[in-house]
Amino acid sequence: MDQFGVKTRIIMGDGLGSLTGRMKKAFVVTDSFMAKSGKVEYVTMRLDQAKVAYQVFSEISAEPDIGVVTLGVGQMMEFDPDAVICLGGGAAIDAAKAIVFIAQKAGGRSGIFFVAIPTTSGTGSEVSRFAVITDKEKEVKYPLIDDSLLPDAAVLDAQLVVSAPPSVTADTGIDVFTHAVEAFVSTGRNDFTDACASKAIKLVNHHLMAAYKNPKDLKARQGMHNASCLAGIAFSNAGLGVNHGMAHALGAHFHIPHGRANGILLPYVMSFNAGCTENLTPTAKRYAQISRLLRLDTNNVRQSALNMIRTARRFIEQMNMPSTIAAAGVTKEQFEAELDAMAQAALADSCTATNPQPVTIDDIKLIYRKAFIGKIP
Ligand SMILES: NC(=O)c1ccc[n+]([C@@H]2O[C@H](COP(=O)([O-])OP(=O)(O)OC[C@H]3O[C@@H](n4cnc5c(N)ncnc54)[C@H](O)[C@@H]3O)[C@@H](O)[C@H]2O)c1
Ligand SMILES: [Zn+2]
Repeated sequence: MDQFGVKTRIIMGDGLGSLTGRMKKAFVVTDSFMAKSGKVEYVTMRLDQAKVAYQVFSEISAEPDIGVVTLGVGQMMEFDPDAVICLGGGAAIDAAKAIVFIAQKAGGRSGIFFVAIPTTSGTGSEVSRFAVITDKEKEVKYPLIDDSLLPDAAVLDAQLVVSAPPSVTADTGIDVFTHAVEAFVSTGRNDFTDACASKAIKLVNHHLMAAYKNPKDLKARQGMHNASCLAGIAFSNAGLGVNHGMAHALGAHFHIPHGRANGILLPYVMSFNAGCTENLTPTAKRYAQISRLLRLDTNNVRQSALNMIRTARRFIEQMNMPSTIAAAGVTKEQFEAELDAMAQAALADSCTATNPQPVTIDDIKLIYRKAFIGKIP
């Protein structure tokens, strides 16, 4: 049985004001940068205008862990809001999702109106049933996957993204591309997820470099914001693949930003999934279909799939991103010491379950090794 759902109401542009009428007390979750830079006023100013009482929780930093989530649950329960609004990148949105989830499941709260306002164009967390929480001690990232994590509303206002520096635009942009590509080939895909994933891929191809080169290009920023959300809808329904399973483990062990970890691995995972070095797989045909979307196809499936792998490499090169694990600052000794643990975590990661090709622990180790030294497929 196939399914497709979008619970979240998506508002494009400056539309938070249209949602505040139903709120009396709002708990605002954001990261420390948003609070210190004053960007959180985007929310608090609109709450002031609507005379909604609020409390700001701004303890979130990159890779939110269970400690910060527990702290947030405590403060939220004490404040007892009827709405939660999160403002920030994927880290802040994921933390807020986990806070609301625990307050509802363990704290007996219900009927909380949950609004997500992304300030990066990357994770699609505002519409996904995923939240990634890190166990810093065990160096593991756990994707929680549940329908109850879905926000009620998302505000996609590109004005909020223009301040993102080029390195964040690059990391998060490659994350969008990886979401869309993995969803397009996932075992959980269907015509509806394909529609969202294909549109996201086209938008990334059209807008990512413009957003990187000219951060104030609002058209490119809104294009990437929409791409991120569409890719989020696609993978929330279709699932992801081993690229994300491996990126979670790589990021948790070496603190490489999520999108950057995905970008480093993507050419090697695509090459593995397509069977480029041995026999071509049915996934190669799916990559060839993506290349047709971007008018990069040829008469030859292998060549068309390779053109998609080259497209991923081109994005990475043109945005000055590290293209290998070594270039991301990991030494050979550190890499070898963590390889087994990373491969085990990647295999167990719930994202890996929907990879289009079966994958073993040895396959994963080989992909990591290729990505460490930069072996071209
Ligand atoms: N829930 C999901 O479906 C999902 C999917 C992919 C990734 N994730 C998770 O999301 C997190 C990554 O999220 P992210 O890539 O958005 O990064 P992030 O939230 O960690 O933000 C990256 C950095 O950019 C800053 N920043 C954010 N918006 C900015 C802006 N407008 N201007 C200037 N600086 C800004 C943040 O303060 C932070 O320092 C990871 O924890 C990852 O595991 C979740
Ligand atoms: Zn991702």
